[in-house]
Amino acid sequence: MASAGWPLFWWLVGSICIPLSLPWLLFKIFHFKKSHAKLQGKVVVITGASSGLGEALAHVFYKAGCKVILIARRENELARVKNDLLSLHPTIPTHPPVIISMDLSELNDIAGHVKKILAVYNKVDILINNAGISYRGEIISTKVDVDIKVMLINYFGQIALTKALLPSMVELRSGHIVAISSIQGRIALPYRSAYTASKHALQAFCDTLRAEVAGHNIKVTVVSPGYIRTNLSVNAVTGSGQQYGVLDETTAGGYSPQSVAEQILDGVADDKNELLISPASPRIAIFLRTVCPSLYFLVMKKRAKHTTSDKNS
Ligand SMILES: NC(=O)c1ccc[n+]([C@@H]2O[C@H](COP(=O)([O-])OP(=O)(O)OC[C@H]3O[C@@H](n4cnc5c(N)ncnc54)[C@H](OP(=O)(O)O)[C@@H]3O)[C@@H](O)[C@H]2O)c1
Ligand SMILES: *[C@@H]1O[C@H](CO)[C@@H](O)[C@H](O)[C@H]1NC(C)=O
Repeated sequence: MASAGWPLFWWLVGSICIPLSLPWLLFKIFHFKKSHAKLQGKVVVITGASSGLGEALAHVFYKAGCKVILIARRENELARVKNDLLSLHPTIPTHPPVIISMDLSELNDIAGHVKKILAVYNKVDILINNAGISYRGEIISTKVDVDIKVMLINYFGQIALTKALLPSMVELRSGHIVAISSIQGRIALPYRSAYTASKHALQAFCDTLRAEVAGHNIKVTVVSPGYIRTNLSVNAVTGSGQQYGVLDETTAGGYSPQSVAEQILDGVADDKNELLISPASPRIAIFLRTVCPSLYFLVMKKRAKHTTSDKNS
């Protein structure tokens, strides 16, 4: 007698679910095409494009038909990424990637580099501030020089580049600034002081920027991802200024750079203000920090006790 239910079931699927989901599906497909088409031909500057997330961003924006300008210190790695783009996506109807070597911590050189950047296509449509360095250490034994170094790359370098490009965007009454922050731009973890402070600063700067430039038709997107499988922890600086040199388990077990880059592309195409790319537990931590801070502080005290500055959890 159980089979008597089946015709009714299929009738429900056929007459209700399919008609209801079809418009949604069509909307999704149409919207996807429309928002991605918007990116075709855009001039996109990506910092930290020589590895990790920045390299993955170079691929997804290039594939979307953007004219990419790739920035980092290591010119040979940028050249490798450029060659990969040309050989992996040979049919993309766009300009060959342009690479510019620059050190974001050399603040006095940034204006000169921006002249070079603007000279390529006479404008920049999207600036993706992605370059960054991480940190491992205990506050008490960390040299202030290390705090300054992290802040210089993750904060001052980004805002200097942004300020140098902003007048050209204001003049055109169009532009989009994207900042790759982190979950740690929203919540602070023990033994990450310099990093989390730099990302909190970037987040705050961007929230102010968004309000100020909205009248000039300039968009600001802050991206806060969880762990991504890159060399970020290997390249991290320790309290004494040495390279940390370890691929942490958390980083190794993180999202693939490609999947994060694709979500960023969608978020930028949709003019999202914020993009939180994260598993459930960091989301809960962000929520707790806001609605029940004392519980959050308790959890972090326990976390600090059970980990040390060189051990990661
Ligand atoms: N991996 C994660 O778990 C994770 C999670 C959340 C957020 N993020 C953020 O994602 C962004 C990208 O990091 P990643 O994970 O892809 O790490 P990564 O592989 O170490 O990449 C860092 C990039 O920044 C560039 N860079 C470093 N210092 C620079 C400087 N002084 N001037 C110019 N470029 C510089 C590096 O290029 P050169 O060495 O060639 O200069 C490299 O291309 C960072 O902002 C990071 O904070 C990462
Ligand atoms: C990390 O760096 C090493 C050495 O530069 C490189 O061979 C490797 O591909 C990098 N890994 C990632 C995930 O970027």
